[in-house]
Order: sequence, then structure tokens, then C-alpha cells
Amino acid sequence: MKANLVLLPGDGIGPEIVAQARLVLESVATQFGHEFSFASHQIGGIAIDNGGDPLPQETIDACRASDAILLGAVGGPKWDDPSAKTRPEAGLLKIRKELGLFANLRPIKLFKELVDASPLKREIIEGTDILFLRELTGGIYFGPSGREGSGATESAFQSMVYSVPEVERIVRLAAKAAQGRDGRLTSVDKANVLEPSRLWRQVAARVMAEEFPDVKYDVVLVDAMAMHLINRPKDFDVVVTGNMFGDILTDEASMLPGSLGMLPSASLGDGGPGLYEPIHGSAPDIAGKGIANPLATILAAAMLLRHSLNLTAEADAIEAAVGRVLADGLRTADIARGSDSIGTEAMGAAVIQRLSV
Ligand code: NAD
Ligand code: IPM
Ligand code: MN
Repeated sequence: MKANLVLLPGDGIGPEIVAQARLVLESVATQFGHEFSFASHQIGGIAIDNGGDPLPQETIDACRASDAILLGAVGGPKWDDPSAKTRPEAGLLKIRKELGLFANLRPIKLFKELVDASPLKREIIEGTDILFLRELTGGIYFGPSGREGSGATESAFQSMVYSVPEVERIVRLAAKAAQGRDGRLTSVDKANVLEPSRLWRQVAARVMAEEFPDVKYDVVLVDAMAMHLINRPKDFDVVVTGNMFGDILTDEASMLPGSLGMLPSASLGDGGPGLYEPIHGSAPDIAGKGIANPLATILAAAMLLRHSLNLTAEADAIEAAVGRVLADGLRTADIARGSDSIGTEAMGAAVIQRLSV
């Protein structure tokens, strides 16, 4: 098949890890007889440096015209001034909104070879397999915000807003995902305090009762969920939650497989191109050192093949190759737990070598 792919390397380790994922995709294309074209565009801090806008119009146009998008990460200390006119992260939020990517799938899958890379005990994490569905284009990230007053009397606000259709569509998607897995869905909110969470809980309960009586459904408050995740992660199948809770809980959940550098994600809407990225950021502390773990981005490329291009065997091949790399004991520093490690390029090459085994 022919596919037109847009790469958004971004900042920090973004270009390093996207380069490896691209090589993996090129190798898959050769082996399976596909023609993938790649066009790189700017987003984030680099786009601010080159034109003042974290999401230039030509990047939006290229993304819209593509079959799928692979993003590295945006942001870094260079653009962190709290009084700056714009920020790299604004570009990422805008592309998600522009493309209507309301559903962020974040699978927390444990590679059995990595059980000892986790700071948590083997008996707690072994067998963990959770799919998070994070609502991505609403909630507090996109609510009304601003500042009032000045000097010592100045205040700032950012409101959390959810509408009924926004909750319905993400809960439906999560329930359908649960039907294709273990048939269990947990909705996470803060309904004991927040009004939008109370709306979320009512809407979710109605959708589940009316449309998905076959799915075992429960609700958990977000503070308790933060604890359950590291105490009894095996008890969860699909978890659906709002934008900010999903952001925080999935970084926490990355400690189950052992590193942020292992977790991919897919951001999907109603048709149109999907956007695929690791859940981690630009890792300024290790950028330019050639030691970042490219596996999250390589696994995001596998999700791209699976969800946007329907290339199941190809996606399986990448995931199996990552499993073989880990089984062979190859580790980047983040998952090496003090033993020998290899760099970003060597890890990418190791995956490619094992693609056709
Ligand atoms: P981060 O995810 O960049 O890094 C957190 C820690 O995890 C760091 O110690 C980092 O070295 C490590 N890490 C992350 N990815 C790794 C990888 N692939 N291999 C090895 N180690 C890895 O979070 P942060 O430091 O809080 O944020 C840095 C910048 O990234 C901020 O500007 C933030 O806004 C941005 N950010 C962007 C995205 C995105 O583009 N989707 C996501 C999160 C954060
Ligand atoms: C993520 C990031 C982003 C988010 C930031 C960089 C806007 O943390 O993709 O998880 O909060 O959604
Ligand atoms: Mn995040």
C-alpha cells in the first residue's frame, strides 16, 4: 500500500527517537512491499524559533493531507519563560484540537522481559495489561482561562468544562474497546468535588446501562486510582478518564513497565489522520546525548500501522521485534537498572535486525 506519513520530530530527544522510528517504518515498508512517503514538518519550540508560531499553518495543512502523523515531543527549558507570548506545548494542544483527536489510547503493556526493570515488585505487576482512554480535546486543558487584576491582587484561572456529547463519545469508544478485551471498564473522576466530574459520572452511567450492559462497569475517584494503580494494577482492563487525570495517571502507570520510554500512544478522532507519539516529553536532561529510549516511539509507529493503515501483520512484526530485543537483554539506560546499556541508534538498529527473524 501507499501511505503519506507526516513526521513532527519537535524538540529535545524528539528528532533522535523519530529518526529511529522512521528507519523501522522504512524497513517494514521494504519487507512487506509498501510505499511510505515521509515529510517532516515543524512543531513546538523549533517552530517558535523559526517563525514565532508553535504550529505553523503549513504543518496543519500537511497533517490534514496525510494518512497519519508520528510526533516526537515538544518543549524544553529554552521556551519555559512563564511570561512568554506562546509555548511549544500550545502547538501540540492545537494540532490535537484542529484534527479533532478526542481519544488518546495509552496501552500499559508489560513486556515480560522487563518485569525486573520496574521499581515495583514482580508479584504486583506481572500480568498487568491496561488500556487507558484519555479524553484529549476537552476538560481543563481547553476551558476558559485568563488573568484578572495586577500585581499583588492578580489572580489566574483555568476552568474545567465537559459537555454531554464529549463524555458520551469517549465513554462509547472505551466501552467498545472493553468489549474487544476483557469486558471491564473503569471510569475515573473526582465527582466528590468537581461539577464536570458529576456530569461525567451521570453520562457515563447512562451510556453504559443503555448501550453496554455486557461490559462490567465501575467508577473510582482519581486520588484513590493513583494508589490502586501501583497496588493492584492487574485489576484494571480499560480505564476511561478526563484530559488532565489521564495525563497524570499514565505517567504514573509508566512505572509498571519500568520507563516512560516504553509507552506509546495513539490520538484518534472521527476518521481523518491519527497522531501517534510516545507519552513522554522532550527529556531535556538527556537530549543530544544519544541515550534516549526510542522504543516508545517505535511502538507508536506500530500503533500507527495498526490503527491508521490497518496493517496488522506489520504492527505485530514491530512489537515482536521489540520483544526479541528485550529478550536478548538489550537495554537503553532508562531500563537497564544499572547494568550495561546501549544508545538510541543501536536500539533502533537492534529492532530492525530482528524484524524479519
Ligand atoms: P519528560 O517526559 O520529558 O521526562 C521525564 C523524565 O523521563 C526525564 O528524566 C527524562 O529523561 C525521562 N525520559 C523521558 N523520555 C525518555 C526516553 N525516551 N528515554 C529515556 N528517558 C526518558 O518530562 P519533563 O521533563 O517533565 O518535560 C520536559 C518537556 O517535555 C516539557 O517542556 C514538557 O512540557 C514537555 N512534554 C512534552 C510532551 C509531548 O510532546 N507529548 C509530553 C510530556 C512533556
Ligand atoms: C502529554 C504531554 C502534553 C499533555 C503536554 C506537553 C501538552 O504531557 O502528551 O502527555 O499534557 O497532554
Ligand atoms: Mn503528559
